[in-house]
Amino acid sequence: MPKSEKWVVGLALLFLVLCLGLICYSVFGLNIRLPTCVTAVKPFEHGNIIKHTDQKYEVQFVAKMWSFDPAEVKLPKGSQVDIFVTSQDVLHGFHILNTHVNLMAVPGTVNFAQINFNKPGEYKIVCHEYCGMGHQNMTAKIIVE
Ligand code: CUA
Repeated sequence: MPKSEKWVVGLALLFLVLCLGLICYSVFGLNIRLPTCVTAVKPFEHGNIIKHTDQKYEVQFVAKMWSFDPAEVKLPKGSQVDIFVTSQDVLHGFHILNTHVNLMAVPGTVNFAQINFNKPGEYKIVCHEYCGMGHQNMTAKIIVE
């Protein structure tokens, strides 16, 4: 092997070790974890609205060709909502329009987001992942009263 190639291989290995070292430092030294929305919650088969307190709710959405269960959720203004999403069949999207909640509905997995509904109104939920013929009709809504 020519000397120049040895240098290139050596630099590549050094760079690899440096990157791995920085990753280890960020995880173990700085305690930085990559954000994840995947939970340890087991996939559920039906949509569910659970009231924990007057201001704290949990909504479990099941996406399926081509609807969401539940299709309509009514919540009081100011409620904090834990949203869990799974899919019964194929990959779907779950986006509550005009909010930060934008999840994938993945079969066999439950994804999570939390949101505070401080403004009354109707929040439309759409599937944003093409999932077949009825994709464009796949909607639901949250009504904040
Ligand atoms: Cu479900 Cu598109």
